[in-house]
Amino acid sequence: MPQEWWERFFSGLWLDVQRELRADRTPAEADFIEQVLRLRPGAAVLDVPCGEGRLTLELAARGYQMTGVDITEAVLAEARQKAAGRGLQIAWHRRDMRDLPWKEAFAGAFCVWTSFGYFDDAGNEAFLRAVSAALRPGARFLLEFQALAETLLPRFQERSWGPVGDVLVLEERRYDHARSRVDVEWTFVRGGRIEKKSSSIRVYTYRELCELLARVGFAEFEAYGSLEGEPFRLGQRLYLVAAKTAG
Ligand SMILES: C[S@@+](CC[C@H](N)C(=O)[O-])C[C@H]1O[C@@H](n2cnc3c(N)ncnc32)[C@H](O)[C@@H]1O
Repeated sequence: MPQEWWERFFSGLWLDVQRELRADRTPAEADFIEQVLRLRPGAAVLDVPCGEGRLTLELAARGYQMTGVDITEAVLAEARQKAAGRGLQIAWHRRDMRDLPWKEAFAGAFCVWTSFGYFDDAGNEAFLRAVSAALRPGARFLLEFQALAETLLPRFQERSWGPVGDVLVLEERRYDHARSRVDVEWTFVRGGRIEKKSSSIRVYTYRELCELLARVGFAEFEAYGSLEGEPFRLGQRLYLVAAKTAG
């Protein structure tokens, strides 16, 4: 059976690129998450998908009761090892983000680094519905999304390349307006090692995203364009915060 792109992508040289790209941002992102989710000390918080747990670990170290969900065993193994090394108690779950088992269990949740839009429209909605169900009424959710139409399209580049640490990364992008998806062919090169991968992400407009979130029980949208809390503007990445409605 053919695998989905997201079952193949998160491995190999990408993992080194991922560590290099976000490590410096992690403490500032954790500060932002604490603030916009209005977390009380020791609150139960869901990180989905959590990857190697860079934010799960950081927030657990700040005293929150963290749960991390991801589908890729290799990244979860790394996360578990880091947690053990730092003596942190974290609940790690290997599962599909569209299928979360919790009901009103969390005081906050977040999905960061464009970890949304991987599926078809029904799948993307199923994920947001599962997050909504997992949150207590009034709890807040942060979605960081760079495949927003207002972010991506004003400065769309068909091709870009450059070094990330010691890996050379080439991205060849195609925007398919009929499917509203950005399809990317990636090439990673380190020394003589070359890896090719593909990704495909649904591009939503801001309004589509809010309508989708409203359909699954969110309201009170706040749109930020940076970790400093600037209001979102065209071309910036989006940090969208929403609260789960009471009813
Ligand atoms: C770009 S990484 C971001 C990880 C983390 N949010 C961070 O900021 O470091 C995206 C993650 O999504 C996970 N993922 C992809 N498809 C998934 C699925 N269907 N269910 C759960 N996790 C998934 C991948 O394994 C990967 O760790």
